[in-house]
Amino acid sequence: MAGRVFRRSIDPDPPVAVRAEGSTIWDDRGRSYLDAAGGAIVVNVGHGRRSVADAMAEQAGRVAYAHGSAFTNDALEAYAAELGPRLPLDDPAIYPVSGGSEAIETALKLARAYHLARGEADRLVVFSRWGSYHGNTIGALDLSGRRSLRRPYEGWLGRFRHLSAAYPYRAGDPGANALATAEELSAELERAIESAGPGTVAAFVAEPIVGATLAAAVPPDGYWPAVAEICRRHGVLLIVDEVMTGFGRTGRWFGSDHWGVRPDILVAAKGATSGYWPFGFVAASAAVHAAVTAPGAGFVHGFTYSHHAVGAAVAREVLGILETEGLVDASATKGERLRELLAERLAEHPNVGEIRGRGLMLGIELVEDRESRAPFPRAARLTENVLRTARADGLLLYSGTGLANGVDGDSILLGPPFIVSDEELVRIASGLTAALDTAIAQVRSAR
Ligand SMILES: Cc1ncc(COP(=O)(O)O)c(C=O)c1O
Repeated sequence: MAGRVFRRSIDPDPPVAVRAEGSTIWDDRGRSYLDAAGGAIVVNVGHGRRSVADAMAEQAGRVAYAHGSAFTNDALEAYAAELGPRLPLDDPAIYPVSGGSEAIETALKLARAYHLARGEADRLVVFSRWGSYHGNTIGALDLSGRRSLRRPYEGWLGRFRHLSAAYPYRAGDPGANALATAEELSAELERAIESAGPGTVAAFVAEPIVGATLAAAVPPDGYWPAVAEICRRHGVLLIVDEVMTGFGRTGRWFGSDHWGVRPDILVAAKGATSGYWPFGFVAASAAVHAAVTAPGAGFVHGFTYSHHAVGAAVAREVLGILETEGLVDASATKGERLRELLAERLAEHPNVGEIRGRGLMLGIELVEDRESRAPFPRAARLTENVLRTARADGLLLYSGTGLANGVDGDSILLGPPFIVSDEELVRIASGLTAALDTAIAQVRSAR
């Protein structure tokens, strides 16, 4: 019997990707797909970059692998030095790993190691939020507040505590676990820390702007500065998950930059290598790094593929491209343009509840009724229909479901590469509008 691939999706026969360039992927039948989602909001610098492939090959040809506990490598040292000033942390040190979930697990353990090193062994409680995503390994999933992903594994979860989502559009809706104002949200965090008990809370973890789970929900202004102040006052480490928002995706280098937030620990992946290499990292502030590396302290952790030389070479080249081509600013201006194009077509659409986001991370929440914000029932599978229809037309989108109440709720997330052309932006807005109308008609006729 021949071996076979355990497919990622339920589609048993996905197209075979054979080439990719700019914002386009081609399959083996010569069909082209406009990648309006950069895969899973990953490919910030665009597909088919020769210089990235060259950097990868050059490093792999010289030293591909030398274990991180025994050696460092030039690429990693140079990357850390070049990246440092861009990170919203004081004198940061980076711990590279192979992706976002690994980076989140690393951040959690680092927070624990920090408190242990400071003699605060009681600090075990970690708060995150409903309507969040931090990864699919068990620890990262437990931190995540996306109920559809948690459901099959609930029996193994429950270590971390969830607070309300910063999700003004659905504040107060039954089952949404959402609040609207910075005052309500920060008061809830403060209460939670106080009722957990002084000196028992280790960390608060959140995405600056929520990714696919809440379709680019932006918190109210005032939220992040208030959260940072509360954490600091209570000795709670602030961990920001910038896996999706990092490296220019929201029109600033990091999502935290929109509010001048300086976390203790920052987690990144996706855009750091734009998908050219499986990579992520944890950045620790100087204070966190110093605590866990002090004599007598220690960070008991590590992966076979952490501190990888080829990953660092790729990340370094991607960072150089973002800088020399001014792509972070491009994300901001093209994001504005895409937002206008979407608003022209969809702002008055009866099934579009909200268009939101920052830079080239834009979300569209779909509803059955605009007035009441009632979602389509999950059984209608509207999001899946929109994605399938768009893909048949050569347009790739990213999606999220369950945002209204943990089960129902449909949304589309857009995140094209920052090199996307204006013509492609127009095609994305028009193609999405057409796919949405077709899918809604199908859903209605199937009832
Ligand atoms: C905000 C956020 N955190 C963590 C992750 C997990 O990253 P990975 O899929 O690389 O493990 C993701 C992935 O989508 C994400 O969007």
